[in-house]
Amino acid sequence: MQYINNKFYIEKKSVKSLAEKFNTPLYCYSFKNLKTNIQNFKKTFKSISPLICFSVKSNSNVYLLKEIKKLGLGADVVSKGELFASLKAGINKNKIVFSGVGKTEEEIEYAIRKNILLINSESLSEVLKIEEIAKKENKLVNIGLRLNPDTDAKTLKQISTGKSENKFGVDEKTFIKIINLMKKSKFIRIKCLSVHIGSQILNHKPYEKMLGVLDKLLKRLKYKFDIIDLGGGMGINYEKNNRKLNYNEYKKSIIKFRRKHNCKIIFEPGRSIIGNVGIILTKVIYLKHNKSKNFVILDVAMNDLIRPALYNAKHRIIPSIKNNSMSKKVLEFVGPICETTDKFLTEKKYQNIKENDIMIVCDTGAYGFSLSSNYNLRVKPAEILIKGNKVQIIRKRQKIVDII
Ligand code: LLP
Repeated sequence: MQYINNKFYIEKKSVKSLAEKFNTPLYCYSFKNLKTNIQNFKKTFKSISPLICFSVKSNSNVYLLKEIKKLGLGADVVSKGELFASLKAGINKNKIVFSGVGKTEEEIEYAIRKNILLINSESLSEVLKIEEIAKKENKLVNIGLRLNPDTDAKTLKQISTGKSENKFGVDEKTFIKIINLMKKSKFIRIKCLSVHIGSQILNHKPYEKMLGVLDKLLKRLKYKFDIIDLGGGMGINYEKNNRKLNYNEYKKSIIKFRRKHNCKIIFEPGRSIIGNVGIILTKVIYLKHNKSKNFVILDVAMNDLIRPALYNAKHRIIPSIKNNSMSKKVLEFVGPICETTDKFLTEKKYQNIKENDIMIVCDTGAYGFSLSSNYNLRVKPAEILIKGNKVQIIRKRQKIVDII
């Protein structure tokens, strides 16, 4: 995705032409970016040969899942819906893990019947529930047990999951208790230790700490796990500054860990695979000036992309056509929804903007559409996939009749 002669292109398509043809707001994805991200991720961890399970919650579009499958990844799912979508996309059941703190009986039964690789369990009650259902189905079910390593991921508090106050995983004491309790089970085999300390992590140190906790626990436990599932969480650079995760350091600490504990590694990346693959095209509906502020009212809103309203997350907004005429006004980019938090960004220096201009909200491939809603009874946007000069509609824009 880049500017060519001041016009923004996704692969061979100018975004202006896409907005005209498909209307706005519009989620657009670049196949090339997706392929590059997956190839880079694989290359980085090649010496570990991990199983890479794409975290479907970050983007559950079945067409994108199909491409992700073709590029060799498995899936990390957290609901019956995500498991269904992953199987529908053709993802191999032996490459699917099912995480989440509150899997229902229906979901567990579905996962067991589909013979997926692992159900990653997060409490004693859930382990016992899985055992009960496995017994009913007369199956030996492989599970993972998620440890809460009490490690600060040094990311936004709303997306931290590895501290003891978070609802995720079990503490060490409970972990050991469950392992000992399940050793003799005929229906459950605890094959995997799983962890996931949070999302949008840009510092490798929390990962190192997490591996240190695992190392100590494994030495104490003397129990052999075939698999260690390290979760996802690798952050991306939303603000185009130089902050990025040092993958090399993370990899080195995993290699060191594996020298002591020989096991298969699973990763569950979401954002790092799909985040910069997507953008939203949006039109400026109105410009509005009040006493103290200049608002740019866009046709994209918090129902389409909730990250800024929910986490105060920053997504850059750039023009589809650069005009090189700078305005000194402070601009506040907002959506049309009746909420004060329906606000994307404040910019102190920006080019002159007119009503009807097409703008681009950057890096919305992860937790964009998947977190969208119909608030204010707004229809969800269409999604399109661009491959060179080909464009495919991968989800139709909803119609009002679909949602009332
Ligand atoms: N594995 C587990 C068990 C998870 O809970 C998550 C994300 C992932 C993997 C993938 O994490 P990633 O590689 O994408 O960071 N809605 C928030 C992010 C919530 C993440 C939830 N869990 C956001 O928009 O920033």
